[in-house]
Amino acid sequence: MPMKNRLFTLSTLVLLAVARFAQADDDFERAPIHYSKAKPDNAIARLQARLDAGKLQLSYDDRHGYLPAVLKALQVPEASQVLVFSKTSLQRTRISPKSPRALYFSDDMYIGYCQGGQVLEINAVDAKLGAVFYTLDQEMTDRPKFARQTDACLLCHGSSQTRNVPGHVLRSVYPDRSGEPIFALGTARVDQTTAFDRRWGGWYVTGTHGKQRHLGNLIVQNRNDREAIASNAEGQNVKDLKGFFDPGAYLTPHSDLVALMVLEHQAEAHNLIARASIQTRLALHDQATLNKELGREPDYPSETARRRIISVAEPLVRYLLFSQEAKLTEKVAGTSTFAADFAKPGPRDKKGRSLREFDLERRLFKYPCSYLIYSEAFDQMPTALKDYVYQVVHDVLTDRHYGGGFGHLSAGYRQAILEILRDTKKDLPDYWRK
Ligand code: HEC
Repeated sequence: MPMKNRLFTLSTLVLLAVARFAQADDDFERAPIHYSKAKPDNAIARLQARLDAGKLQLSYDDRHGYLPAVLKALQVPEASQVLVFSKTSLQRTRISPKSPRALYFSDDMYIGYCQGGQVLEINAVDAKLGAVFYTLDQEMTDRPKFARQTDACLLCHGSSQTRNVPGHVLRSVYPDRSGEPIFALGTARVDQTTAFDRRWGGWYVTGTHGKQRHLGNLIVQNRNDREAIASNAEGQNVKDLKGFFDPGAYLTPHSDLVALMVLEHQAEAHNLIARASIQTRLALHDQATLNKELGREPDYPSETARRRIISVAEPLVRYLLFSQEAKLTEKVAGTSTFAADFAKPGPRDKKGRSLREFDLERRLFKYPCSYLIYSEAFDQMPTALKDYVYQVVHDVLTDRHYGGGFGHLSAGYRQAILEILRDTKKDLPDYWRK
């Protein structure tokens, strides 16, 4: 059983509180969002309700605490496991190259586990609020309780790193032997646009990728040896992590390369959806306030609101259609069943095509339009935003969008995506069907 070890020591709490106090003017704490006070509606809130009603029990595992039961209850696949060994997150004292932090994810859930950690860390995608943070105590109890967290997580998960909304963070660093990032060597935020050779510093990576180089599996022994760092010879095409630590201590021995790439696509997509939704609701709220002051109809459209919505919708569309995605120059493959499992559920169009199909030779997905278009977070975007997003996506797919940034989509792929969406997405506006 994990040793009791207070996670939020008094001094960290004070530090976090001071840091957050300085940012108390966050947009997402104003009306109509009220992030910290609002009642969440997401898979964790629903799971907690089932637990409280006695409809479900979480079994406790001697080695991993509630992790296996939580993954199962939330249908988060074990094969999504990726391992990060840099001391860059909350339970930093638990994390090192010998004892990496494991992350698991599904389309609407992110879960962090540290060996001997006091809590599981959980980021649920909430259609209205962006990421909502929870911890679950890893001590055995009759009544497991997902405790909602705000400031303690927002410090890193509600900053410029997450586009100033409650969101997801992924980075690449140069870790030393203890897992401490050496910031003097550089650091990068990572998403689908990050070049292959800048990814995965501080992460274990299992998979093959030919001559393409990455920073995964690298432990910097001598920070002055730039050549060894740049070549990271031992870190490439690693299929087995036994030489680095004991993978037997985890649910699976993998830190799958394809899972990492999907995670990186998805985390930033969720941030952009959250930002667009929250900013749109703020803009509409401000518009209503102004209309009231001016004695106009409550929903009289203002040019300012329209421009604010466009400014968050455009980057979202570009990202969902994989504009500026980092190119692959050779085939990549992971080591777990992740890729096969991920592609299975579809939905598929009449020709059997799905947005979850991988390419993995030139880019991540075969049809570059994010499967998150099927997600609750996308579906529940405010109407004004969703209408605009659908309009631009349609314009791009039918070649009417001259904004640039879509050269990666050949006519054939535009047509294929259009057809897939027509067959599989129920709420498309009528003009999509013509
Ligand atoms: C000191 C900064 C920091 C704090 C505080 C922090 N995190 Fe994170 N978190 C990170 C970083 C950095 C990553 C990226 C992976 C890594 O480096 O470990 C991350 C990744 C995650 C992930 C997986 C990817 C994602 O962003 O969804 C989860 C889940 C997570 N954190 C949960 C939490 C929860 C829950 C809290 C609060 C109880 C929290 N974190 C507090 C820095 C932090």
